[in-house]
Amino acid sequence: MEETKHQDEEEVTRRSLLKTACIAGAGAAVLISGLNGRADASGGTYPQVRIANVKDVKAGKAVKFDYPLAGRKNILINCGCSTEGGVGAEKSIVAYSSFCTHLGCGVDIEKESGMLVCECHQSIYDPKQSGKVVEGPAPNSLPMVALNVDKNGDIYAVGVAGLIYGMRNNLLDGEEVK
Ligand code: FES
Repeated sequence: MEETKHQDEEEVTRRSLLKTACIAGAGAAVLISGLNGRADASGGTYPQVRIANVKDVKAGKAVKFDYPLAGRKNILINCGCSTEGGVGAEKSIVAYSSFCTHLGCGVDIEKESGMLVCECHQSIYDPKQSGKVVEGPAPNSLPMVALNVDKNGDIYAVGVAGLIYGMRNNLLDGEEVK
């Protein structure tokens, strides 16, 4: 069952991810702490959804998952080095919405650069800089998924910082993640 929840796990070479420097500039920080259990504007509360275990998301791995509702696609990445907002022993694991902030096309990891690239108009987002746009027409950073890790190393999605493309509220008009 866990396999179906974490669709399309994708290998990204450690070497390609480490090609780009780990940048965690002060200006790039997104405040995601405190999202756990926080009420959204609708009065709803973000669910806690297990995504993976840290031992299964080594440097260079990416895992795709739905959150906070079914069909709201996201990507979890181990950047291989300490990253703003990251979790895990090296603070290197981060997650973002997979919907581009330009017109909502799919964003995926580019193996060569380790960047998140939109399939439609090639906006490029940097997962090591809180999903900041570094190229292309996208107007905003990718919404960042807040993560918690429990004592067993299980990684949970616990909130989303930023409005997911096309949503008037991240928690409305959708079905629970199974
Ligand atoms: S939809 Fe992503 S750049 Fe246009």
